[in-house]
Amino acid sequence: MAINSATAIAHPNIAFIKYWGNRDKSLRLPDNGSISMNLEELTTQTQVTFDPNLPGDIFDLNGHRQAGQSAQRVVAHLNLLRGLRGIGTKAYVKSENNFPEGAGIASSASAFAALTVAGIRALGIELPERDLSRLARRGSGSASRSIPTGFVEWYRGASDIDSYAVSIARPDFWELSDLVVIVDEKHKLTGSSEGHELAKTSALQSARVLDADKRIERCREAIQTRDFALLAETIEMDCNMMHAVMMTSNPPIFYWNPYTIEIITAVHAWRKSGIPVAYTIDAGPNVHLICDSEVETLLSDKISNFKWVKQLLIAHPGGPARLL
Ligand code: PMV
Repeated sequence: MAINSATAIAHPNIAFIKYWGNRDKSLRLPDNGSISMNLEELTTQTQVTFDPNLPGDIFDLNGHRQAGQSAQRVVAHLNLLRGLRGIGTKAYVKSENNFPEGAGIASSASAFAALTVAGIRALGIELPERDLSRLARRGSGSASRSIPTGFVEWYRGASDIDSYAVSIARPDFWELSDLVVIVDEKHKLTGSSEGHELAKTSALQSARVLDADKRIERCREAIQTRDFALLAETIEMDCNMMHAVMMTSNPPIFYWNPYTIEIITAVHAWRKSGIPVAYTIDAGPNVHLICDSEVETLLSDKISNFKWVKQLLIAHPGGPARLL
């Protein structure tokens, strides 16, 4: 193959209904379906260049050559993509995130979504969205949800064939904001790949999974009818259930810190006073405040009163992964 290059961008997403636990680890088939919102202002831009002169794959992230686990995951994903054409040509992958490292924004979703879209094009292949989503899923489960636009549902599916994500509403359908309250900038101690493995050791995981379809339906309905009260109740319950599983795994994982609880307490008080805001928390201590965009400034001001908040990032519903 001749030298062939393509560049794509993708956004990370925040899960409203969480993915936690795989029933098939290597295919990344999830225990339950999930729902998320892409985050427009945050982006990963990735260029993939297949070059027959390269002796091995190279991965640069934010200007730094990568080695170890992060490089291995990229090589494994390139192998999956190359396998579609039955070639062994090595690639140079250059990736940049516009959001700070260690800001508690999981970059694996946007990373594997952008890598999939750019890699597939650089290989000269055209695929429908669902197949791009299925491939991105193999790099990182949540990456499947960064392929379609706006508000997205990832189907649990029965197999590799039907476990992919689709858009359930366009980004402009509902003017929501995600205020990402960074209370700790350190890297998390237990990464999500390890955490997914531990989920099955919690007696609560089966109950969480059994009830997931009901929460998915409620969340989908909340989005489609723009029902903030229903959204708030559903996403907070889902988040708490995931963290209950984490805390009761063996060994247990406690991602929250005292500031996380302070924010949760504040959110409940603010909502009680009539402000449309809810919280959700991924595999870390930082809190995503999901709110009606009308109250974004009001909430930003309130959060600035917490002097221990390290950073506040604000994002809105985002578009799909796409070629540049
Ligand atoms: O895609 P992963 O393996 O990084 O897992 C994501 C896990 C959570 O962020 C905690 C939940 C989710 O659905 O995004």
